[in-house]
Amino acid sequence: MKIGIPRETAAGERRVAATAETVRKAVAMGFEVLVESGAGTNAAVPDPAYVEAGARIVRSAAELYGVANVILAVQPPDDDALAAMAPDAVVIGMLQPLDRPERVRAFAKRGITALALELLPRITRAQTMDVLSSQSNIAGYGSVLLAATRYGRLFPMMMTAAGTIVAARMLVLGAGVAGLQAIATGRRLGAVVSAYDVRPEVKEQVQSLGARFVEVGAAGEAGASTGTGYAGEMSDAYKAREREVLAAQVAKTDVVISTALIPGRPAPRLISADMVAAMRPGAVIVDLAAANGGNCELTRADEVVTHGGVTLIGTLNLPALWAGDASHLFARNLMAFIEPMVDKASRTLKVDPADEIVGACLLTRGGRVVHPRFAEKETS
Ligand code: NAI
Repeated sequence: MKIGIPRETAAGERRVAATAETVRKAVAMGFEVLVESGAGTNAAVPDPAYVEAGARIVRSAAELYGVANVILAVQPPDDDALAAMAPDAVVIGMLQPLDRPERVRAFAKRGITALALELLPRITRAQTMDVLSSQSNIAGYGSVLLAATRYGRLFPMMMTAAGTIVAARMLVLGAGVAGLQAIATGRRLGAVVSAYDVRPEVKEQVQSLGARFVEVGAAGEAGASTGTGYAGEMSDAYKAREREVLAAQVAKTDVVISTALIPGRPAPRLISADMVAAMRPGAVIVDLAAANGGNCELTRADEVVTHGGVTLIGTLNLPALWAGDASHLFARNLMAFIEPMVDKASRTLKVDPADEIVGACLLTRGGRVVHPRFAEKETS
């Protein structure tokens, strides 16, 4: 069986789906690994490192897709890639089924077996495979670094002969994986950090990182925790209270890192234009929810804009900016996903839809969209 690692073609995508470490592992499992030339360059894995790990470098994407049985990718393969693929090929990666349903249909049309890792269930057994966690962790860290370079002041309190510098006040909205890492990073840089989330169970985690938890009241009302690890939609009454509390908080904040998301829904609107207008000039908002419409009304996806001296950073795909470690963790997630699927006797990958994890990720197979969530969309 041949595993193929393509060079990612999406704009700004610097990550790669395999590192020398994971190639070595795949080769030890009895697979042949083919890597498209230059695939790891932006993640600091040059072609010779792959060769040393036992891979063969192929010159073109067409050649790679033409011979690989299993494609490991960061983002969904484009139309050219699909056209070059064998119809019984298996594609595994962050295939963006919620945002790009047309890709799901395209996989089905080509007869490809597609597995989207964003759909992994949040169960203990899947933790090592959780690409959303590994990448959100990096995005959370990176968001604070971006804020620090744009904020025209320093983060820590400093007492100098010339006078005292006051510590930056940071507010983190959404204390999931990215938010918790942003809190830790902000604290390490010396900011005074507060955080808010609709899921009441994160209060203790926020406090254990040395941040203050912002209470909206009636925390834990229906919607806050769905039992899947993700939050749900809140009631209108709750949202009204939330607006009031956040307006007061945001007005006295220098740096906002917003990470609030609800899977499959537009990002909750937490910061209005009025709230931005009330912030002091020089303040910075990094909106990690920019790809889903933004937590701030004024965010522009993939742009950095200013309003009344407040900088809004809507940069997309932050993990790609730290592609070395993002790829390192992503490639490990992929190997953890594949390993239990390997049939040791035949040295092939067995895609078993009855397996809880595989079944949850399986989008298409045998020319059909088999995932219930997307099959419905296809016929409706
Ligand atoms: P996410 O990226 O979907 O959302 C980010 C955060 O935004 C969440 O904490 C969510 O509660 C919050 N949020 C949603 N609406 C909000 C609103 N209106 N106001 C404020 N905050 C809002 O979530 P993420 O970070 O991917 O994971 C959330 C949790 O899932 C983690 O903290 C963890 O407890 C759990 N998890 C479990 C895993 C496992 O067991 N395998 C793996 C990864 C995460």
